[in-house]
Amino acid sequence: MEKLKQVLSPEEIQEKVKELAEKIENDFKGEPLVFIGTLKGAFIFLADLVRNVKNSPVEIDFIRAKSYGMSDTSSEEVIITKDVELSLEGKNVILVEDIVDTGITLKFLKEHLKLHNPKVVKICALIDKKERRKEEVELDYVGFVIEKGFLVGYGLDFAEKYRYLPGVYEIIK
Ligand code: IMP
Ligand code: MG
Repeated sequence: MEKLKQVLSPEEIQEKVKELAEKIENDFKGEPLVFIGTLKGAFIFLADLVRNVKNSPVEIDFIRAKSYGMSDTSSEEVIITKDVELSLEGKNVILVEDIVDTGITLKFLKEHLKLHNPKVVKICALIDKKERRKEEVELDYVGFVIEKGFLVGYGLDFAEKYRYLPGVYEIIK
């Protein structure tokens, strides 16, 4: 069993998610939005985010990418194992990611979504983990910046464990 240390409380996450939703709504001035969650990690963040959108029409879809590598490191090769199903033509797309590490997955997914001819693609990430960044991707909406560590909870897993926890924890080795 791993030892966990809390880094984000459920309360501070909820407060931040509300702020992010308000900021996105204001920026798009009530225009319709399509939120696309990256499976599996972003499912809880996406669910909370869209429930804080009060005045803009919202559509929801998911995309799933797989990167090859060890269970706790990210590697270079990305493939899409589940694509979006909604039409994105001319739409305002918000790509919702749980955590950005090397940036390789997001850079790939953003380029991929652009092939669906949306009006715009913006990125909303709960956590920006900067230490191992390899690809520069512009993060339009960021919840928390955390320098390093392997994090679990609020959708994030370690070997499929801990996703259900309402806070975010660092695994202490
Ligand atoms: P990237 O391509 O290196 O940016 O990988 C991002 C993906 O790796 C995230 O969407 C997560 O699925 C996974 N990941 C990266 N860091 C962590 C972490 O600290 N905890 C859990 N998953 C992580
Ligand atoms: Mg992910």
